[in-house]
Amino acid sequence: MLFGGDYNPEQWPEGVWAADIELMRRANVNLVTVGVFAWSRMQPAPDEFDFDWLDRVLTLLGAAGIGVCLATPTASPPPWFTRAHPDAMPVTREGVRLTHGSRDTYCVNAPAYRTASVRIASELAARYAGHGAVRLWHVHNEYGTACYCDHCAAEFRNWLAARYGDVETLNDAWSADFWSQRYRCWPEVLPPRATQYLANPAHELDYRRFVSDAMLRHYLDQRAVLRRAGPAPVTTNFVLGGWVPVDHARWAREVDVVAIDDYPSSVADHLAERAFAADRARGWALAAGHPDGRWLLMEHAPGAVRDRSGVVRPLPAGGARDAALTYLDRGALGVLYFQWRASRGGAEQWHPAIVPHEGDRTPVFDEISVLGAEVARRVPATVSARIALIHDEQSMWAWQSPHLPTREIDYEAMVRRWHGTLAAGGAMVDVVPVTAPLRRYDLVAAPALYLMPAAAHTALREYVSGGGTLVLTFACGLVDDCSRATPGALDDLIGARVLRHVPLLPGETEALAGVDAVGRRWLDHLEPAGATVLLRTADGRPAVTEHHFGAGVVRYAATDLDERRFTRMLFER
Ligand code: GLA
Repeated sequence: MLFGGDYNPEQWPEGVWAADIELMRRANVNLVTVGVFAWSRMQPAPDEFDFDWLDRVLTLLGAAGIGVCLATPTASPPPWFTRAHPDAMPVTREGVRLTHGSRDTYCVNAPAYRTASVRIASELAARYAGHGAVRLWHVHNEYGTACYCDHCAAEFRNWLAARYGDVETLNDAWSADFWSQRYRCWPEVLPPRATQYLANPAHELDYRRFVSDAMLRHYLDQRAVLRRAGPAPVTTNFVLGGWVPVDHARWAREVDVVAIDDYPSSVADHLAERAFAADRARGWALAAGHPDGRWLLMEHAPGAVRDRSGVVRPLPAGGARDAALTYLDRGALGVLYFQWRASRGGAEQWHPAIVPHEGDRTPVFDEISVLGAEVARRVPATVSARIALIHDEQSMWAWQSPHLPTREIDYEAMVRRWHGTLAAGGAMVDVVPVTAPLRRYDLVAAPALYLMPAAAHTALREYVSGGGTLVLTFACGLVDDCSRATPGALDDLIGARVLRHVPLLPGETEALAGVDAVGRRWLDHLEPAGATVLLRTADGRPAVTEHHFGAGVVRYAATDLDERRFTRMLFER
């Protein structure tokens, strides 16, 4: 069981290191992530490397029996690099080229950045692949910077050419005859930069997929170097959030262990948020074939939560333990924190740490070190869930488009709400991408799965035909993977025709017959064709239907229900 966190000794005078190691032993720390943002220390000038300090850190850690998750520092190129290669700095949608001063300021498609990244990774691999303390490679940090520069434009065209073959097929995929967007040749195609009014949703979606693949190539370039050098497993830490242009289900196949960072945004609901994050990580791991869906919590804040109000609030006593157990019970191979010792200065100097500025005689150090002893005694949990909740990043991205018929559907919030309902009472729920193997589940729920590629249609039909219970809602399967409308695509499965979609106004409700409850946000007008109506609106329209399909059953909610009240009707077989 792994226990520890990010350790940034370069931020402190060397005299502090021995004390750090001593405290780590007291806290039962057995893995620390080193080097994440240390590029300017490792390579102080273009042709100068300095690893002596890192040698000394690794020697100290190794002698104390503490393993190292060694990072490649490519998330933060040094100032000399920026100065020499301004074209490797990212350009925003609006055409603003960003500059040095924070972190994550790079363009993964810039040749100079790609070369420099592989070079520093190769230096690290050559020096440390055989080092006894190195247990895991941590490539980069939280991939997520999207860029819209000319390097990206050129690579985007290559990516599109590989996906669609020719411009005619692209025009068809992007419905390019709308608003005169028909392309004559590849050079006319650009990244979706700032434009006058609504952008083409298919263009936007493909750009996000492209950014994900471009970052994946940057990761794979480094992975190749690290794998060639030695046997230590390689991963990168996934950052969660609607803004992240990473297709995690795809990436999960390329990491030796799925690793996530988790920073809940609500002091009141942090455990529910953590459970959802853990179940997602396990879902990606399962879908990618990692044994038992095991995964690693690479970062979380020790004993505190930054609330969405912006307040960094210490959790009450026991809060850090509750957090850790939430992850460990859901299959985590260990719990790691950001960070070990609080930064003296810099942009994250007020971030919680295991050793805060006030030192080790503090509640947080006490709680984390007691927890370390407890974690050391545990073995990784094996989770076997009977329920799957589909959370699909492509649908999540598609729901973010401003062209939709309503802004009232918050896909992420809806799936989280369903997760809370399905997991109530302690049931384990795998939160999976739609590409996951589904046969093992008794129940699969897929709320608001707006975007459904042909493979998703096939997978859901196979699951139900084989005897599964599937719960769908309004706004499922409205478009294909090119954001083209697919009317009636689910009619055979739900046993009803959707005659029209009626998004409801903010605050508007739809009364339901015979129950003291209402529908919200959306109402499909359904004409049953084989399905039985389980619940109607007050004026007689079907609100929940049930359809036998093959050996299984499909329930369909035509409106947004308080699913906790309707659990039996929706989820029980
Ligand atoms: C992320 C990063 C860390 C740090 C923390 C702060 O997860 O990977 O470097 O910035 O957030 O919460």
